[in-house]
Amino acid sequence: MNRYREFHRRSIEAPDEFWRDEAARIHWHTPFDTVLDRSNPPFARWFVGGRTNLCHNAIDRHLAQRAQQDALIYVSTEIGIERRYTYAEMHAEVNRMAAVMRSLGVARGERVLIYLPMIPEAAFAMLACARLGAIHSVVFGGFAAPNLAARIDDAKPALIVTADAGARGGKVIDYAPLIDEALSRAAHKTPHVLLIDRQLTPEKLNAPYLIDYEPLREQFFDAHVPCEWLESNEPSYVLYTSGTTGRPKGVQRDVGGYAVALATSMEYIFEGRPGDTMFTASDIGWVVGHSYIIYAPLIAGLTTVMYEGMPIRPDGGIWWRLVEQHRINLMFTAPTALRVLKKQDPALMKQADLSSLRTLFLAGEPLDEPTATWAAQSLGKPVVDNYWQTETGWPILAIQRGVEALPPKPGSPGVPVYGYDVTLRDEITGEPCAPGEKGVLTLAYPLPPGCMSTVWGDDARFVSTYWAKSGTNGGTNSASNGESGELVYSTFDWGVQDDNGYVTILGRTDDVINIAGHRLGTREIEEALSGHHAVAEVAVVGVTDALKGQVALAFTVLRDADRYASGDARAALEADLAATVDRQLGAIARPARVHVVAMLPKTRSGKLLRRAIAALAEGRDPGDLPTIEDPAALQQIRDALRVAQMR
Ligand code: PRX
Repeated sequence: MNRYREFHRRSIEAPDEFWRDEAARIHWHTPFDTVLDRSNPPFARWFVGGRTNLCHNAIDRHLAQRAQQDALIYVSTEIGIERRYTYAEMHAEVNRMAAVMRSLGVARGERVLIYLPMIPEAAFAMLACARLGAIHSVVFGGFAAPNLAARIDDAKPALIVTADAGARGGKVIDYAPLIDEALSRAAHKTPHVLLIDRQLTPEKLNAPYLIDYEPLREQFFDAHVPCEWLESNEPSYVLYTSGTTGRPKGVQRDVGGYAVALATSMEYIFEGRPGDTMFTASDIGWVVGHSYIIYAPLIAGLTTVMYEGMPIRPDGGIWWRLVEQHRINLMFTAPTALRVLKKQDPALMKQADLSSLRTLFLAGEPLDEPTATWAAQSLGKPVVDNYWQTETGWPILAIQRGVEALPPKPGSPGVPVYGYDVTLRDEITGEPCAPGEKGVLTLAYPLPPGCMSTVWGDDARFVSTYWAKSGTNGGTNSASNGESGELVYSTFDWGVQDDNGYVTILGRTDDVINIAGHRLGTREIEEALSGHHAVAEVAVVGVTDALKGQVALAFTVLRDADRYASGDARAALEADLAATVDRQLGAIARPARVHVVAMLPKTRSGKLLRRAIAALAEGRDPGDLPTIEDPAALQQIRDALRVAQMR
């Protein structure tokens, strides 16, 4: 424990010294003059004055030594394609994409919205933006048109990059109607839409604003676009994530701090060495994809595997065969995927030669003990859980095997990562909790390099959402409210820490849920449902699910309940409500069930008692509810759940 303790202590007590040393892992075009500027809390600026570029660090820097090494291996079991790109080829493709973007008017500081499936062009587009100093905003391909429109209006992109279609489970998903609808809904008029034509759809979207990528790529085939040397604190990207309100937040990331943090994580947490192959089974639309499919493995000189498809198609052995075939050393996915694989024929794993695999990493949702034990035993390799958020960009809690291989503790993602000053605090008083006491997981100011710089376009929202003075409240009051105490960032997660520093995560303190590793706001789902003409009121809660971790349940009060009294009318309505969520948000957000009740449990001041509803849905006691307006509402929830169970 001592090596880890000393390493962590130094990162907190002497951050300037610690991070000055670590910054040497990346290339600086101009050296920084200040390691950390803390003159304007809660904002922190890392490596002030230093100039660098993410694309240079991910690609160009490696050309001298590993031009012929694969940078990216693309596998799609959806369309039966495998393609490899060496660092030299990747460099050429990124330059072509950057030249095309530049010809369409994309310049430093401008936003490019990327709405693409898992195809190599998504990586090229992200890196091309980085090269130009443009700010990418990748929107998950599973999100529906209204969602996309909201992000277009917030990011105001100069360009959207999209494709003709995605593919999932053997079905082609035509993007054209989605893009068309999103563009007509958005108030911001995006000048150009660049189309990667995968030739998956017979019907082409023939809109005048569409520009075909392929002829332009040909035109700029030999282009070389120099890297823009950005000041370390200029934005690199904006990634939208769900919070307590229905309005998604644009998490803004810097350049230098992010590059340094990711490079250190490859050394101390992931132990990825140049020439290794890493397979992160996530999506570029999520933070795990940004950090561990694209930037971190490339910055560290690895080969990254990008996979389009499901873990069980053509069968549940596909990922293990990929490990064998590509000699994969590091694998990273979400516990949900593993729970799915655990249900498959065990022989499928045994048939593959997994000798190249060193470690399996898991993040995004709680890792249950049976799944962790199953994985560790059947693979015979370490399984490393790690806990973090879109906001932080890289792990907050993990066993840092590159520092010291501490023993894992079942149910816990491990101990605080260097750079993070973690304290569990009482939700109301903000006082630190004793070991074993449940509290809100908070981080002391300043956050380490790589964490969010602000909410895109809304500094005030960044301050008021995340920061508080510890003396006043565990993390919901504005930083400016506190008179004294420490300035702390709230993760909005409950946790408990043991005497040895291991933290166990006990769920969110807010209305964010996690379905199959996908972060969603229950408010967003509620807003989608309340748009339906039949709905008067609605509450959405997350409940535990054996496979997906959590699923959403909706409880609705109808405007005209009599109309839907018959079983058939009710069933048709429930299906229609589910379809409404699909249209507004995308199928990932669809509630597992929509229940109809006569009233919802609320406080006397009208606040929905979501925690009480969730408790009932999970068969737990909702506890004392002194502020409840009408206790009969709880019985309504119980009855609805019982009726549903009988059906
Ligand atoms: O509640 C925590 C949960 O997922 C949230 C962050 O989700 P997202 O922004 O999508 O970022 C995922 C990055 C891996 C957290 O606030 N969470 C994430 N990892 C874990 C976790 N809960 C328990 N254990 C984890 N390892």
